[in-house]
Amino acid sequence: MKKKITGLSVLVIILAGLIYSLSATKLPALVEQPILFNHVRHAEKDVACYDCHQYYKNYAVAGIPDTELCYSCHKSDKDLKEKEEKRKLHEYFTEKIEIEWNRVNTPLPDDLVFNHKRHVAEDIECAECHGKIEDQVETKQMVEDFKMDWCIECHQKEEADEDCLTCHK
Ligand code: HEC
Ligand code: HEC
Ligand code: HEC
Ligand code: HEC
Ligand code: HEC
Repeated sequence: MKKKITGLSVLVIILAGLIYSLSATKLPALVEQPILFNHVRHAEKDVACYDCHQYYKNYAVAGIPDTELCYSCHKSDKDLKEKEEKRKLHEYFTEKIEIEWNRVNTPLPDDLVFNHKRHVAEDIECAECHGKIEDQVETKQMVEDFKMDWCIECHQKEEADEDCLTCHK
């Protein structure tokens, strides 16, 4: 009888550990967006990341497209007023309102330095840091919050700077 209980408690502990680690790695819920933006649909049609995120080659930020850029591709779509999300885009554009996209990944604290250009220039794929966004019908945070250990792990591997002042202002 004693043995049985021990076996059972071991099982309970393993299960509890499993549930804990699953919940600890659980990614945040979907962020609600004013228009459901579908990365898969654009990737399928060979719209490149850079067609929309037009800053990462030259600047620290990647950049989110403005309403005008979206509309420049969609203004002559035949289904512009039929498809719900496109109809919304049309309204934003004609009423001259910027679409307020919500951030999916928690931004880094203000005293941190991060630069897309420098990383992209090293041929680090977007997916290494963001996961496969092209597979996302609704954009999710694909990696956990950007943590110092994660940054440093790659810096060690790639022999990039590890001085505190590389990343901290
Ligand atoms: C470089 C051109 C280009 C840009 C810029 C662009 N799109 Fe698209 N979009 C496409 C293509 C191509 C498709 C696929 C064909 C279609 O459904 O019209 C598409 C599809 C869509 C669809 C239909 C999705 C579905 O699931 O059927 C929506 C909604 C949409 N885009 C919204 C946007 C919004 C919002 C922006 C700006 C953030 C944007 N697009 C920027 C080219 C573009
Ligand atoms: C047609 C325009 C378009 C294309 C192409 C596109 N994106 Fe986006 N992306 C957006 C828009 C709009 C948002 C904001 C809405 C959202 O998060 O769904 C966004 C959000 C993101 C985010 C989340 C940013 C945050 O808030 O933390 C990442 C990461 C991202 N895109 C990466 C990519 C990558 C990688 C590619 C290429 C595989 C790509 N995108 C292609 C328009 C685009
Ligand atoms: C080395 C890791 C890394 C790589 C590679 C990377 N990103 Fe990012 N990305 C980040 C971090 C960290 C943030 C948050 C930055 C902040 O809050 O200041 C971010 C934020 C973003 C954002 C939202 C804020 C902004 O800068 O506009 C978009 C969009 C984005 N990344 C797209 C991309 C695309 C597209 C690529 C590939 C061309 C890419 N990222 C490559 C780490 C990376
Ligand atoms: C996948 C690997 C990888 C990840 C993840 C990564 N880095 Fe880097 N980082 C590099 C490499 C490689 C370089 C060296 C680039 C160079 O020599 O210019 C670099 C360089 C830098 C630089 C120096 C750029 C300059 O202007 O001198 C800063 C700052 C930096 N990273 C911050 C960060 C921060 C903050 C994070 C986490 C949010 C991060 N990195 C995550 C690979 C990575
Ligand atoms: C490769 C980039 C990188 C380097 C190098 C780095 N850090 Fe960080 N550090 C981060 C990021 C990203 C955060 C914010 C996310 C987090 O809290 O993990 C952070 C957060 C911190 C925090 C928590 C408080 C805060 O400012 O948000 C402390 C304390 C800290 N770092 C100290 C250090 C010290 C000391 C060194 C040098 C031994 C160092 N860091 C080197 C990227 C870096």
